[in-house]
Amino acid sequence: MSLRAIVLAAGRGTRMKSDLPKVLFPVAGRPLLSWVLDAVAGSSPDEVMVVVGYGADAVRAALPNGVRAVVQDPQLGTGHAVMVALEALGDVSGDTVLVVPGDTPLLRPATLQALVAARADAPAALLTAVMPDPTGYGRVLRSGGKVTGIVEHRDATPEQRAICEVAVSTYAFEGTALAAALAGLGQGNDQGEYYLTDAVAALAAGGEVRGVPVADPAEVQGVNSHAQLAAVAAEVRRRLNASWMAAGVEMLDPERVYLDAAVTLEAGVRLYPGVHLAGHTTVGAGAEVGPEVFAVDSALASGARVWYAVLRGAEVGEGAQVGPFASLRPGTRLEAGSKVGTFVETKATVVGRGSKVPHLSYMGDTVIGEDSNIGAGTITCNYDGREKHRTVIGDRVFIGSDTMLVAPVVIGDDATTGAGSVITRDVPPGALAVERGQQREVPGYAARKTKKVSRKVPKKE
Ligand code: UD1
Ligand code: CA
Repeated sequence: MSLRAIVLAAGRGTRMKSDLPKVLFPVAGRPLLSWVLDAVAGSSPDEVMVVVGYGADAVRAALPNGVRAVVQDPQLGTGHAVMVALEALGDVSGDTVLVVPGDTPLLRPATLQALVAARADAPAALLTAVMPDPTGYGRVLRSGGKVTGIVEHRDATPEQRAICEVAVSTYAFEGTALAAALAGLGQGNDQGEYYLTDAVAALAAGGEVRGVPVADPAEVQGVNSHAQLAAVAAEVRRRLNASWMAAGVEMLDPERVYLDAAVTLEAGVRLYPGVHLAGHTTVGAGAEVGPEVFAVDSALASGARVWYAVLRGAEVGEGAQVGPFASLRPGTRLEAGSKVGTFVETKATVVGRGSKVPHLSYMGDTVIGEDSNIGAGTITCNYDGREKHRTVIGDRVFIGSDTMLVAPVVIGDDATTGAGSVITRDVPPGALAVERGQQREVPGYAARKTKKVSRKVPKKE
C-alpha cells in the first residue's frame, strides 16, 4: 500500500484579477504552491501529482524534480480534477490518495500525517475546520456525529448555511472507493461542475467517512484574494521569523522584518525594523542590518553595518559599513573594513580593504585598492554614451572632493587629485594631479555689490 498525493492547482484564481496563476503568487519569495508541496512532501508520499490547467506551463516550470503534473482542460470542477489525476496515476486500488488544494500554504505536514493516519481502514477521511464565518465554504453535514456529506455554500439551505464546520478540500481516500465514488459524480449543482465534495456522500453511504477537525483553523486559510494572500504571507513571516529568533537572530520588531525563505542568517545577527532580505541573501554573525534595508541576492559578512540602503547582488565584507542612503548595484564588492556612505551609488565596483567612499559619489566599473579615500562628490564618468569604461584606483590614494574621473583612467598608488579636478589622463603613483582654472580675487567686490544692490532693493518699513 502506498501514499499518492494529488495537489489541485488548475484554477486561475479569478479574484486575484491577474494573469499570473494564483498558485504562483509569491509568499516569502516562493510560489504559494511550493509551500503546499513542502507540506505534502512532509507526509512522505510515494508519488505527487499536481493538476495544472490555467497557466499550465508556468505552473509546471515551478515544480520541483520528482513531482509530476497532469493538465486538466477544460476545468470541470474539483471532482473532475481528481478524475484527471487518477487517470494519470493509474491503478490506485488499496492505496491512500491524499488530496490537497494548491492554495493553502500554511498547512503543516503533521496535519496531513494525522489525516492519513485517521483514515486507517475507512474509505475516506476529510480535514474540517470550524470557521466563525463559514461563508463560501462547503459545509460538513453530520448525522449522529457521523459525516454524511458536504454541501456547497451556493447550494446550501439557510439551515445548512448556519453550520460552521466546513470542508477545506483536503482529504485522504482509499483508492478503489475513491474511483468508484468519482464514477458516480454528476453535474447537478449550481455551477454545473463535478464536485469532489459530492464524493463524500457516496463514500459515507458505503462506510465511515472520518471528519478530522484541524487544531488551528489558520492552517487551512486558502488564498482567493489579495487580502487573503497578505494574511497568509504575514503568518508565513511570523513562522519564519520565530524560527530565526530561536536560532539566535535578534529582531527589534519581528512584525517589520521580511525574509525570503532562501535567506540564511547566523546567530548574533541584529535586524532593525524595515528590513527586507530577498532571494539568496546571507548575513554573518554580529552584522547589524537596518533600519530600512532592501537587499536581494547579497552577502553581508560578520560585523557588517548596513542601514537605509538598497543592495542588489552586492557583497559587504567583514565589518564594512554601508549607508545611510546608499545604493549598491550588482557587482559591488566591499572588502573588509571598507565604507560606502551617505548618498553613494556603486555598480560593478570593488572597494578595497579599509577604503572609504563616504559621501555623495558614483563609483561605476571601478576597482579601488586598499586604504584609499574618495572625497565627497567624486564621480566616475564611466559611460561615454556608447560604452562603459573602467576606473582603477590604487592603494592609499587620496581623491579630492568633487573629482570627475573620466574613464578609462588609472590612478596610481599614493597619488592625490586636487578637489574639483576633471581627470582625463592616468596619474602616476605618488603624483598630485590638479586640473582647475586659476583662482582670481577681486578686491573690494562686496562693497561695490552692496552699492549696486541698495539702489534696486526697496527699503523695509
Ligand atoms: C472548494 C470546495 C469547498 C471548500 C473550498 C475551500 C468543491 C466543490 N468545493 O470550493 O467545499 O470549502 O474549496 O477548500 O470542491 N481546481 C482544479 N480544477 C477545477 C476546479 C478547481 O484544479 O476544475 C482547484 C483550484 O485550483 C483550487 C482548488 O481546486 O486549488 C479548489 O478550487 P476552488 O475553485 O477554489 O473551490 P471553491 O469554490 O473554493
Ligand atoms: Ca478556494
